[in-house]
Amino acid sequence: MCMSVSNSKINGYYKKNIQERVEILRELCSLTNEETNTLSNYGSLDSSIGERLIENFVTNMEVPMGIATNFLINGKDYLIPMAVEEPSVIAACSNGARIARILGGFKAHASESIMFGQIQVIDVQNIEKAKVDLLMVKDEIIQIANSTSKTLNKMGKGASDISFHGVKYDEHVLMGNLEVDTGDAMGANLINSMVEKVTPFIEEKTGGKVVLRILSNLTPMRIVRAYGIFSKDAIGGRDVVRKFMHAAILSEEDIFRATTHNKGIMNGIDSVLLATMNDWRQAEANAHAYASINGHYGPLTHYRENENGDIVGSIEIPISVGTVGGTSASIPKAKIAQKILGVNHAIELEEVLACVGLAQNFAAMRALSDEGIQKGHMELHSRNLAIAVGAKDEEVDLVANELIRSGEIKMSNARVILDKIRKR
Ligand code: MEV
Repeated sequence: MCMSVSNSKINGYYKKNIQERVEILRELCSLTNEETNTLSNYGSLDSSIGERLIENFVTNMEVPMGIATNFLINGKDYLIPMAVEEPSVIAACSNGARIARILGGFKAHASESIMFGQIQVIDVQNIEKAKVDLLMVKDEIIQIANSTSKTLNKMGKGASDISFHGVKYDEHVLMGNLEVDTGDAMGANLINSMVEKVTPFIEEKTGGKVVLRILSNLTPMRIVRAYGIFSKDAIGGRDVVRKFMHAAILSEEDIFRATTHNKGIMNGIDSVLLATMNDWRQAEANAHAYASINGHYGPLTHYRENENGDIVGSIEIPISVGTVGGTSASIPKAKIAQKILGVNHAIELEEVLACVGLAQNFAAMRALSDEGIQKGHMELHSRNLAIAVGAKDEEVDLVANELIRSGEIKMSNARVILDKIRKR
């Protein structure tokens, strides 16, 4: 039962310890002992880590994690950890990979890890003069930026270029774009440090004032291209292929469909990002912005039939993730997920993610162009309902099967069925 709190303005909530914060919640939200005990169960992530990672920490949130199987990418096998609450995602993803595997698996190629940091300078008297002045000291700016990371310098990575341009909304505003190869790091901290470091120098040279200094999450130069061939015989033959192609092509011209199509791709990618504790919000922002980079929002995957009538699926998606830095190292299960995944470099992880997106999307499209997704979805949903009403062990399957048989897959029906089973 949900109820609204009488007052959400809590002075110094951040200064309280965890027990005090939970106690406040108990009072304000009428939590029961059982509920506060559940909150105080931190699982494998020590509360001291949670407290260090975020503010106003009260507990850890569990999300189910499973493993997608069958992935063969660039000739290497992968088991893919996925953390997701939605039924069917992992089964569909494994199924897409199983079908791609028949004709050799996925081939993927990720570009170098090039991203941009943006610097917005306001109150610049003469934009054209400032551009020339900055061009003359470009090497110095890059040197200052690179002084933030010795490791990247040693690897021959880091900032390599900076360009400047004016903006339409104000003739006294200059934008700088710092180009950085972030190597195996996702790069957010690195680039943010770089653009902050060059700020005083740029202010001095332009006489302006820097406002925004932050990376851009749109990474059109940090991009992955991957493809796989899906055998027509494995998906029900020419009839299904024909319907599949109709379903796929619609997303090219219909934004309502393209949005759902891309959501399906991100189902897979986000789940791996969550399991490995990478920032999935930036991946979402990046992917959707890229989907409309030509001024028209479109699908991130494309399909065509080859001469044998099989489906060639491809994906082109910007992905910026790291295998060094970030928070995953402090989260025990994320570290295990990374070990299961077995990737060594950011580029490899990006290639795997693109293939997961393609497998996920292919499987959804295949189901949609054949039996629909509700059948499989409802089977899993019925298990969820069984668990939600308290079914234990073998009761879960008994309730789920009976729910499906009844055709009324609802919580209230699950309760009735469980009661009947227990009375038997
Ligand atoms: C559901 O989470 C994702 C799908 O809607 C994707 C799609 O329609 O392509 C099945």
